[in-house]
Amino acid sequence: MCKLLAEHGHEVAVVDNLSTGHAEAVRWGELHVGDIGDSALLDRVFSDFRPEGVLHFAGKSIVEESITDPASYYLNNFSSSLKLFEQVRKIPDCPVIFSSTAAIFGEPQSDQITEAHPKYPINAYGRSKLAVEQLLQDYWTAYSMPSMCFRYFNAAGADPAGNIGEAHHPETHLIPRVFDSILGVAGAVKVFGNDYGTPDGTCVRDFVHVEDLCNAHLLGIEFLKDRHAALTFNLGNGVGFSVMEVLKAAQNITGIAVPYQFTGRRPGDSPRLVADSSAAREYLGWTPQYTELPHIMKTAWNWHRDRKF
Ligand SMILES: NC(=O)c1ccc[n+]([C@@H]2O[C@H](COP(=O)([O-])OP(=O)(O)OC[C@H]3O[C@@H](n4cnc5c(N)ncnc54)[C@H](O)[C@@H]3O)[C@@H](O)[C@H]2O)c1
Repeated sequence: MCKLLAEHGHEVAVVDNLSTGHAEAVRWGELHVGDIGDSALLDRVFSDFRPEGVLHFAGKSIVEESITDPASYYLNNFSSSLKLFEQVRKIPDCPVIFSSTAAIFGEPQSDQITEAHPKYPINAYGRSKLAVEQLLQDYWTAYSMPSMCFRYFNAAGADPAGNIGEAHHPETHLIPRVFDSILGVAGAVKVFGNDYGTPDGTCVRDFVHVEDLCNAHLLGIEFLKDRHAALTFNLGNGVGFSVMEVLKAAQNITGIAVPYQFTGRRPGDSPRLVADSSAAREYLGWTPQYTELPHIMKTAWNWHRDRKF
């Protein structure tokens, strides 16, 4: 996102406590190491930098961890967001874009998930994000603070130029986890369940390229500059790919067979989670460019095989 903003002529300031992030990743814009819940720090950064918009990506996002340690999710994802928005509120008409998630929906009740789909998150991660969405609606009603919530499905891929990509420790996302196995830095990939009612029995997910997500944020900021509102959009490809399709694509790209083992289903995993993003297409003019799985995964591999952190 920082790279794309810089390419579009924006100046960028980043606030990150480096709890899961990396200082080396902040190559476009200035880095302020600290917590978004640190009101004094935010006050200083905002006074010096005077942002035209705030893109709020900071969060903890490991579902299993949110079940065993919900307090840290409500504190980090909800309380710190509230403190951040209190600082944003001091800047008249400053729009916020918030990274929400498909996890706010819980068990899918339809094949393609629209914004109107019932929202019954089944873990503290999803509930902490849904609570922030609701808070932003209240801030709009009471304080006219413009905002946009983007519910990403499975963010995937990397900068096509190979300059930047994802680097999680531990890695819980399927595509980089598969590449870790191929590179021999992690063991066999566990495939959680192969007896779902999907074409090959493994779970189907909507992998949406990170550059497409970033482009949606640019469109969102432009939209909110002209038309003040508080809106929420699902962001996905609208195409589902199974876990086995990911493993096969990785083998085709690298020429190396992915070591994997089938294990039992994981509680809370849905057979299929695919977005209906027609609202983002219609209102923002967003069109995902990366719709083919091999294309998405090739960008991830280009980054992953040489990454330094
Ligand atoms: N990656 C996905 O597939 C996906 C899907 C849906 C939603 N999201 C959301 O998108 C956002 C980014 O996800 P990601 O995969 O890049 O995660 P990430 O862990 O790589 O990035 C999160 C960043 O926020 C920082 N951070 C966390 N809490 C902070 C705090 N209180 N103050 C300051 N910095 C803090 C971390 O150090 C890290 O750099 C998260 O909010 C996540 O919930 C991601």
